Amino acid sequence: MPLTRFQLIKSILFLVCLVPMVNLVWGFYADRLGANPFEALTRQSGEWTLRFLLLTLLMTPLREILQQAWPLRLRRMFGLFTFFYALFHLITYLWLDQFFDWQEIATDILKRPFITAGMLAFTLLVPLAFTSTRAMMRRLGRRWKSLHRSIYLIGVLAVLHYLWLVKADLREPLIYAGLMISLLGYRVWKNWRKRAPLRTQAGIN
Ligand code: HEM
Repeated sequence: MPLTRFQLIKSILFLVCLVPMVNLVWGFYADRLGANPFEALTRQSGEWTLRFLLLTLLMTPLREILQQAWPLRLRRMFGLFTFFYALFHLITYLWLDQFFDWQEIATDILKRPFITAGMLAFTLLVPLAFTSTRAMMRRLGRRWKSLHRSIYLIGVLAVLHYLWLVKADLREPLIYAGLMISLLGYRVWKNWRKRAPLRTQAGIN
């Protein structure tokens, strides 16, 4: 069966989403990640996780603003890439940062708030990744939507994770926080507008 134009674009986008990973792994083996390649792997994979998370959250407003269906058809792929980069990010931390010292890792999760937030965000991502299929969507029905609402909490935890780990220059994490606030704020605003007629009916302003 020949590929439709959308399938072709989606396949190309899939390959484009893999570029940062190939670039990171290749950079590591070619010794092009600077003086501390382990740290660079953790940091850059973390940043890519956040970028994919923002991209995933952008799809719903884009669909509503453009009145087109294609953003929703890309949302799951971007969401799964968020999980893919988050998993890689977590593995670099467990392996290259902590050398699988589980006691040290447990202490880190309990003692350092930015690690707590990151770990929580990752834990919440796991069920979303495993229930992302169409079959699971059908099986869970209304509960699927409720479950997938945790993506908003993940967004908040992800920016807190970044803000809390940075000690000096807050500019970059603040830019990401601003983007996250805009994407989540859009949803709050939409919800508020949707409920406005109900409030008027009930005499509340
Ligand atoms: C959705 C989940 C996560 C997101 C979006 C995320 C995002 C990020 C970002 C944006 C950075 C900063 C990159 C930079 O400095 O340029 C970072 C760094 C880091 N993250 Fe995460 N992260 C997540 C989960 C985790 C988890 C589960 C852990 C470990 C338990 C973790 C551990 C770290 C560490 C150790 C650093 C580097 C800190 C440093 O070099 O001082 N992250 N992460």
